[in-house]
Amino acid sequence: MQLVLDYLKRNQARFVAELCEYLRLPSVSAQPEHKKDLRACAGWLANHCHQIGLDARVCPTNGHPIVVAKTPASASLRRGKPRPNFMVYGHYDVQPPEPLDLWQTPPFEPRIAGRSIFARGTTDNKGQHFAHLKAVEAYLKTGTPLPCDLTFVIEGEEEVGSANLAKFLKLHRKELKCDAVVVSDTGMPSPKHPALTYALRGIIAFEITLRGPSRDLHSGIFGGALDNPAMALSQLLARLRDQNGRVAIPGFYDDVTPLSAYERKQFKRLPITDRELQNLIGVKKLFGERGFTPMEQRSARPTFEINGLTSGYQGAGSKTIVPAWARAKITCRLVPDQRPAHVRKMVCDYLKQICPPTVRMEIEAGHGAEAYLVSPTSPHAQAALRALEAAFGCQPVLMREGGSIPIVNDFKRILGADSLLLGLGLPDDNAHSPNEKFDLDCFENGQRMSALLWQELRPV
Ligand code: BES
Ligand code: MN
Repeated sequence: MQLVLDYLKRNQARFVAELCEYLRLPSVSAQPEHKKDLRACAGWLANHCHQIGLDARVCPTNGHPIVVAKTPASASLRRGKPRPNFMVYGHYDVQPPEPLDLWQTPPFEPRIAGRSIFARGTTDNKGQHFAHLKAVEAYLKTGTPLPCDLTFVIEGEEEVGSANLAKFLKLHRKELKCDAVVVSDTGMPSPKHPALTYALRGIIAFEITLRGPSRDLHSGIFGGALDNPAMALSQLLARLRDQNGRVAIPGFYDDVTPLSAYERKQFKRLPITDRELQNLIGVKKLFGERGFTPMEQRSARPTFEINGLTSGYQGAGSKTIVPAWARAKITCRLVPDQRPAHVRKMVCDYLKQICPPTVRMEIEAGHGAEAYLVSPTSPHAQAALRALEAAFGCQPVLMREGGSIPIVNDFKRILGADSLLLGLGLPDDNAHSPNEKFDLDCFENGQRMSALLWQELRPV
């Protein structure tokens, strides 16, 4: 094992250079003009996996390809004997980098400053799963036998809802069968607090469009005699949340499982104060559902969020029109026991009920997934906690997080496997924001955690 750890230590500079190469590929899954870049990125990744000694292939789908890479049978300690098999899941697609003018340096030209590496996709998620690849490289290149088989599944559609991965899992159920899935695509509260995340929120996405006049109209000639779709949409949306930060859709909270007293106590132990959170996100004052702490609000309570709001003229200066339409992109975060289809129906029914007769409403459904909750006391979880502690040199925390990784539900449903969420991201990493970064200490500790994890997960 010392050989593996020494190898990691010796090769950090090269690993960072390789990560930079990976980050240069603009794999923005949401934007059709980047389709080729996703294919190139998958190709680069499969080739890199091959170079470090894995059996790798690029699997086409109806969307962006999936990269599958496995440790060769010869790498295993228990040759010929049945041995545990773990999947490492990650995603090589990234969020759109816009708004570009807020980046200190271009999003796909990685920059290192101190112990941070800046580029779109550093923390979410290229840097995080790359740490696992470097750990397995260390085993393979030092000839250290692995205590288990590993299969890397790195997809290209996580940021757009993983539409094609579930089908792929079903199709390759036998090959991908595993004892557990290891996912580093979440966060940790500070560099001194490595974390095992045991819950994620679910999600439903949709777009509301309100249509008014058949075309943009002169607001002086016609304004005053017709409803303004932008105003109608604003008034509609304003009715969906009350003064106390509660979602005002009838039935929305019906299936929400309340937090236990024990969990609420654990939340209080996490090392981030409300003041720090306020400063980190740059708001004048925090706001959330009354009766819950910000930590609870952002990880264990459901929300209704406007992600985008568009209508009328967006260019320079003024243009006096009544716009023909107005649109809002919405997501709701869900918590355990809320059913995505059911919540979607309640939201749509209510919107239709309160839509004024002066506009036509269209609701387009997007992706959806239920929340995830897994036992933090299973033997696998305990093994992960030991690996985290040994790698980071500090005691790990257990936490719930507010983001969503829809596919973990399918890992459970299709493969019967729980996911171990061992995130390496920091709260100030700027995931989905301008100037995304990844901490190089998290990168290196993450590699060590991965290397140690396979030892800790070894069957007794
Ligand atoms: N890595 C995130 C999910 C995440 C972030 C979980 C922080 C926990 C803490 C992932 O890449 C992501 O952004 N997922 C999307 C899913 C959506 C597009 C279906 C999300 O949460 O918005
Ligand atoms: Mn993301």
